[in-house]
Amino acid sequence: MTNVRSTVELLKSFDDFMLAVDWKKSPLSLYVPVEYILSLGGKRIRPLAIIFLTELLEGPKEGAMHAAYGLELFHNFSLIHDDIMDQAERRRSRDTVHKKFGINPAILSGDVMMIESMRFLRLAEQLSGKIGLQDLFIKTAREVCEGQALDMEFEKKSDISYAEYVEMIRLKTAVLLAFGFEVAALLSSREDLAVAFYNIGIFTGLAFQLEDDYLDFYATEMSFGKIKAGDILQAKKSALVLELMEQFDATQRNDFASWYQDVNKPEIRITVMEDYFKQYGIHDKLKDRITLYQNKVYDLIEGLHLTATQKLNLKDFILGIFSRKF
Ligand code: IPE
Ligand code: IPE
Ligand code: MG
Ligand code: MG
Ligand code: MG
Repeated sequence: MTNVRSTVELLKSFDDFMLAVDWKKSPLSLYVPVEYILSLGGKRIRPLAIIFLTELLEGPKEGAMHAAYGLELFHNFSLIHDDIMDQAERRRSRDTVHKKFGINPAILSGDVMMIESMRFLRLAEQLSGKIGLQDLFIKTAREVCEGQALDMEFEKKSDISYAEYVEMIRLKTAVLLAFGFEVAALLSSREDLAVAFYNIGIFTGLAFQLEDDYLDFYATEMSFGKIKAGDILQAKKSALVLELMEQFDATQRNDFASWYQDVNKPEIRITVMEDYFKQYGIHDKLKDRITLYQNKVYDLIEGLHLTATQKLNLKDFILGIFSRKF
């Protein structure tokens, strides 16, 4: 096996590719917000997954780079619209796009990014000769919208089960990462790995979203780059809230859910939730659940038809995602 370049090098080559795409064009009201969100960085775990895994499987670099760019564009589009829907004001330690430029430009700039993401997937398909990447992307993009819709519906619904929550985050978050994993297998002509890679991406994405929900409450705004307890302010049924609701019987759950939804001072919601989380040991319970998903990923990797070195590299990469090293 050839040597896999370090993730630092891979991220550098992805950055170079990003910088070479020209968004300095007219109308400025459409493209300046695009440049803005893309310039704020972010961890780039989705494009890195495509580039790293394609390299691990010795697949074609150009196709991987174009697919990676398309995926990152789509992700950033989804963040712009998500921040409007979640009324979030901070992202990557800066003002969100709608806060800085207004809601209408944020909607339209998001739209154009989504359209352009499709074009880059088509280019990846043409460059690699791998038919089906676009269709897979379209299916994935539709699922993300479905997940987002469920996330919004759940704000107003009182009795959500953990299974329903997991299905919602599978759609809104995990499928996008899983798409990246599967694409790497397909680009590298390792169709035999496509399903297993997809599933590894799903479990990695689930653990990642659970951690995101955890960090929403337990990270500092400085390290997380988003407003602290934004999920609670917005009355989201986040993993922490679901974990708490699991501790209640049906009546308590209903009472809790209507209070959580209707309390008119969001700051009170935060104080009360903090007490609840302490009282029921929610911090540790969610951490344990995240560990279960992470271990599932490592088990799945063990079962892959890869060399021992490839498995080690893959585990190391996924550890980087879990520990938010990138
Ligand atoms: C944020 O994704 C949205 C979620 C799915 C939790 P990331 O945490 O990957 O965001 P960036 O791209 O690094 O800012
Ligand atoms: C993000 O979910 C999912 C999508 C953008 C589709 P969140 O709403 O939890 O993401 P953050 O916390 O705002 O990054
Ligand atoms: Mg959000
Ligand atoms: Mg959201
Ligand atoms: Mg979140």
